[in-house]
Amino acid sequence: MTDRTPGAGIALVYRFNDDILSVERSGDRITLDVKSWRPLSFTPKAPAYADAVMALAGKGCTLRQFEAIGAASGDPAQAAKAARYYFERFARGRLLAWRIADGDNELARVDALADRYQPKLDDPPAAPLHLCRFAYLHRTEDGTVLESGLAPARMTLGDGGLHALAGTLARPRPAGQDAFAEALWRLGFLDVAAPTESEARRCWEFHDLLMHSASRQNRNFTRIGASYRFEKQFPSAPAAKPPVAGEAVDLPPVDAARIRQGSGALDAIQDRRKSIRSFADEPISLSALGEFLWRTCRTTAHVPSKTQDLLSRPYPAGGSINELEFYLAVSRCDGLEPAIYHYDSHGHRCIRIADSRAFAAQIVERSANAMGLGTGNQRPDVTIVITSRLPRLAWKYEGMAYRATLMNAGVVYHLMYLVATDMGLAGCANGTGDSRLLAEAAGLDPFEETAVAEFVLALPRTASAPS
Ligand SMILES: Cc1cc2nc3c(=O)[nH]c(=O)nc-3n(C[C@H](O)[C@H](O)[C@H](O)COP(=O)(O)O)c2cc1C
Repeated sequence: MTDRTPGAGIALVYRFNDDILSVERSGDRITLDVKSWRPLSFTPKAPAYADAVMALAGKGCTLRQFEAIGAASGDPAQAAKAARYYFERFARGRLLAWRIADGDNELARVDALADRYQPKLDDPPAAPLHLCRFAYLHRTEDGTVLESGLAPARMTLGDGGLHALAGTLARPRPAGQDAFAEALWRLGFLDVAAPTESEARRCWEFHDLLMHSASRQNRNFTRIGASYRFEKQFPSAPAAKPPVAGEAVDLPPVDAARIRQGSGALDAIQDRRKSIRSFADEPISLSALGEFLWRTCRTTAHVPSKTQDLLSRPYPAGGSINELEFYLAVSRCDGLEPAIYHYDSHGHRCIRIADSRAFAAQIVERSANAMGLGTGNQRPDVTIVITSRLPRLAWKYEGMAYRATLMNAGVVYHLMYLVATDMGLAGCANGTGDSRLLAEAAGLDPFEETAVAEFVLALPRTASAPS
């Protein structure tokens, strides 16, 4: 790697990161005082290598400078090997950080978000370099940052860095003609226009990889999990959703003892369970719909707490937060007029949302499309729209709220399938809903609550009846 390309003074500088509280040298023995670690001592093979390691303290040095200092040992090839060895070892413990410098001017600083991350050391491609399809620029509390679903690093750009980035993106050039582009390629943010990707990698879209890499503990230096980061700023949204305006419709009482007696054995239900997309001419009854909701979505306990009230329901839910809500888009049901209803899981009743009949029909029709039903096929009676009050979950869980809400919705799907099977109903999950229809019908603020999944319900068409 060249430190400087012709006409440019830009270089990628390696240094120990801020977790290294001090670097001491006694003879050739070096001791690093690393935050939350015991002191780390080692003796490099040659005094010149110790000199090179010491150059990583303070302002840092480029790879070429590190190699040149080590070459005073008398063997430049071994010094180059030593540079790679030390960078790899330090990267393992996430002890390094980087700067892109233009002379004394810092354009950007780069922090590793995971151990083992380090810039590429091989030769860059000869082709012009473009923004990698997994990279993105956004603002954080620290300023404007460049990140990527692929590279576990965060680059914070100053004004000079933003100018350089704009120039590099507007006029893609090979590394040999743009030292800033070379540094960004080494860091994992730039790539050739059409990189060779495996078939498997081609299948990953930008948002899939970002969510995957950012919402698990794949980046062990980002906060993922129960951090309660808003606890001192504002209270959690209440466990019980504030009442929805509209006419209340009581659901018929449910006889739990009768359900217990009539319910099939779990393995028999599992055996029979299937997605059913062929529906009867007769509509589902209000009592069947009510029993289904009671068995799948009712709230069974409210657990008050000083931090965040919790709920219990018939299905497990991350943190027992139970951020999911249930709406019924009813196109027909014996005992319930077509409309959208909110299921009040605490009072086991439905609240009819005014002027929502046309929206209900559209949601059900979308379900029909999602299930590939032809125009002549009987439509499902009801689409249950599952929404997420995501801020309740995000108030506790950092970095993983949307992941957790989808996992919770998956758990609900399975319970709905099992209960539908046990009750002899036709049920089918839908993975391609449109969150906007319910938002418009129910006047939801999508930041507060948004549809994340749908499940249709009706009576099944019997084998003898033509579809
Ligand atoms: C998350 C998820 C999303 C699904 N989305 C749809 C869908 O949009 N349309 C559809 O017809 N079936 C959908 N299904 C049903 C699957 O196609 C079905 O479960 C699968 O083909 C296996 O068949 P089985 O359920 O009869 O065992 C979905 C199932 C799940 C779990």
